[in-house]
Amino acid sequence: MHNYNLKPLVIALVIIHAYFGVTTKGQLRVGFYSQTCPFAESIIRNAVQTAVSVDRQIAPRLLRLLFHDCFVQGCDGSILLENGETSERNAKGNLGLAGFEVIHNAKAQLEATCPGVVSCADIVALAARDAVALTAGPFYGVPTGRRDGRISNIQLAANLPDVDDSIELLRSKFREMGLSDKELVLLSGGGHTIGTSACFFMPKRLYNFTGHGDSDPAINSQFLPQLKAQCPLNGDVNVRLPLDLSSQFTFDDHIFHNIRNGFAVLASDARLYDDKNTRQVLDSYVGFTNRRPSFKADFAVAMVKLGNIGVKTGSEGEIRRVCNSVN
Ligand code: HEM
Ligand SMILES: *[C@@H]1O[C@H](CO)[C@@H](O)[C@H](O)[C@H]1NC(C)=O
Repeated sequence: MHNYNLKPLVIALVIIHAYFGVTTKGQLRVGFYSQTCPFAESIIRNAVQTAVSVDRQIAPRLLRLLFHDCFVQGCDGSILLENGETSERNAKGNLGLAGFEVIHNAKAQLEATCPGVVSCADIVALAARDAVALTAGPFYGVPTGRRDGRISNIQLAANLPDVDDSIELLRSKFREMGLSDKELVLLSGGGHTIGTSACFFMPKRLYNFTGHGDSDPAINSQFLPQLKAQCPLNGDVNVRLPLDLSSQFTFDDHIFHNIRNGFAVLASDARLYDDKNTRQVLDSYVGFTNRRPSFKADFAVAMVKLGNIGVKTGSEGEIRRVCNSVN
């Protein structure tokens, strides 16, 4: 009997398997649903447009939802799950998150049109893009094909970036997600050029910055009394302040001018100007040089990168039937 040596064949199969395994995993692509659900993106866009035309605060909410989804277990729709008190979305850092009903509404329409095809994670990413476009921000192609996660746990969200983090900590939390100093500045600026914050996030910055009853020295002295009047100590923590004074509904670079001049509302935005590197990035977008990079174009690139964090693809995860619970 011939003794065939199967070893080379086995090795070749292993290599082929590894090759395709590696190249198909983690690959999203623009237009993923063009064959399977051709109207997916327009259904989502219409749902966002309708909601924002009723209440324009919805736009920033949808943008923040993507950031908070992606920073915990990757962009897998985990932020949408409701599994009681221990849900990820109940974490302190997720306070004020909203806009869920827009995602659920889009999902219901998608299920009626092409059941079981479009993931909740992709709806979050596409809705954020549409929300940005509706506030005069950039419109960009969103690579899709994300699959939905099955886990939601409040503890996994304990390490979200916090308003009172130092620049070093903010930087390291972003780096852990594969995002650079430049992307920290772009995504904070682009996120906070629209929308509002609850006074809930203000007390340390206004009343006990270093633990001695002081305020953040980065706050412009003309602005400090205004902030204190809006968010008095032991006042109503639900009162909301615009993050970008004077242009809270428009995606623009005012936020960078405000940060530079001591008019940042969030402490974490002020921290971007404390550090040499992040200050340089910020200045580059509002500088007087004729080689100024485009804030909108660079923000769009950073958003795609944010949306790619830890995605599940292929046979990982599932396509949820409804976005607030696993199948
Ligand atoms: C650098 C770390 C960041 C920290 C510490 C931070 C913190 C916060 C806080 C405390 C609020 C107020 C939330 C509320 O009271 O409802 C807020 C609002 C917001 N953030 Fe961030 N953020 C960060 C980065 C980002 C990024 C990367 C994005 C998206 C690209 C983003 C998008 C938003 C938006 C759109 C709002 C307004 C939400 C609304 O109007 O309801 N943030 N952020
Ligand atoms: C201010 O901060 C210090 C140090 O973190 C803390 O011990 C103190 O309780 C804080 N005071 C108030 C009023 O929160």
